Amino acid sequence: MKESTAHIGASTGRAEARRVTGDAALHRQVAPFRIPMSSPDITQAEVDAVNAVLRTPHLSIGPCVDEFERRVADYAGARHAVAVSSGTAGLHLAVIAVGVTDGDEVITTPFSFVASANVALYERARPVFVDVDPESLNIDANRIESAITPRTKAILPVHAFGQPADMDAILDIARRHKLIVIEDACEAIGAEYKGRKAGALGHAGVFAFYPNKQMTTGEGGVIVTGDDNWNHLFRSLRNQGRDVFDAWLNHSRLGYNYRLDEMSAALGLAQINRIEALLAKRERVAGWYAARLQKIEGVTVQFVAATPTRASWFVYVVRLAPHIQRDQIVRRLDERGIPCRPYFQPIHLQPFYRQRFGCMPGDFPVTERVAASTLAVPFFGNMSEEQVNAVCDALREVLDEAAAGKSMNETTDEHR
Ligand SMILES: Cc1ncc(COP(=O)(O)O)c(C=O)c1O
Repeated sequence: MKESTAHIGASTGRAEARRVTGDAALHRQVAPFRIPMSSPDITQAEVDAVNAVLRTPHLSIGPCVDEFERRVADYAGARHAVAVSSGTAGLHLAVIAVGVTDGDEVITTPFSFVASANVALYERARPVFVDVDPESLNIDANRIESAITPRTKAILPVHAFGQPADMDAILDIARRHKLIVIEDACEAIGAEYKGRKAGALGHAGVFAFYPNKQMTTGEGGVIVTGDDNWNHLFRSLRNQGRDVFDAWLNHSRLGYNYRLDEMSAALGLAQINRIEALLAKRERVAGWYAARLQKIEGVTVQFVAATPTRASWFVYVVRLAPHIQRDQIVRRLDERGIPCRPYFQPIHLQPFYRQRFGCMPGDFPVTERVAASTLAVPFFGNMSEEQVNAVCDALREVLDEAAAGKSMNETTDEHR
């Protein structure tokens, strides 16, 4: 079956809306989405691969995980790959490997999914936020050095939306200050920074494979590293702290059950075998969006860096001009069955971070300005040109409506 006709993946529009907007969205009445926010690209090859595992006695700790790890290591250009149960689990193990203790600091970005900062807290370290570059939306390398203190142990840059952070500058700072770099490449499998694959540039990097990602394992992730000791440590930590030479019920260290099961690994294998095709489809959809959205006044399309990088398209995020009320646009699109989402919400302004660290609006102005105006539109590899047109037409209409409403209000105000 040809790939274009073999798409089996059920729409995850609702599930993704829940993930992006939180439980409150569950209780809201919204029109049924005509277009999902995201959707995995599942063909008969994936179905067959998972079914084949189900006919064996090995549903966990089996050959698919081993092969999946080899394929990801190969693809990422890394010496080792260790499969885990999620991207968050992978980042957590990487922070453990850094060896942080109470009160140590990990420098990271506030413009990310909350997990990239939470993993420092799991180990009682403190995430120290550094504002982002207004173009790339990644951590601003020029601001990192002033955030370094004697407690700083690591830098954890995030390749936001699949666009690589400025890794040469970050690695140079890390070298000079003897810091470890953990790449959050959860959104960036396949992205390249100056010809090198994102994820394999720091001491360790982590990919995530939730169903909205470029490729999926259902839930799951992979840590890549060039460090032999870290490779062994990750394998032990994900498997309840057992060392390879330990007996089944012998546990050399405090560990976790962060294993990836065989069905997920089989799915991941089928997906990584098609990764270039998956990325190419997403790039094509991004191209359609760019061509149409560029013509809409007040909309800035997603930035692609001028350095010789290769973005790996995870989401398609547009920025609205400052005078446009983004949340009103989101509501009006929702009413039309187009599930656009604010993405990201700054981490430092999450209720938990405000309460625990006293973070306030104004702490990271670039992040806050960008976060107030960004909008993720529906995006997945099997999106048709018609669906992209429908999103762009709806966006144009609601922007026009909002502009008309605004000028009416202005007229009313003048006559008061
Ligand atoms: C930037 C970033 N970091 C970490 C994660 C966590 O990955 P997972 O959901 O697999 O735990 C995600 C996933 O959405 C992410 O986008």
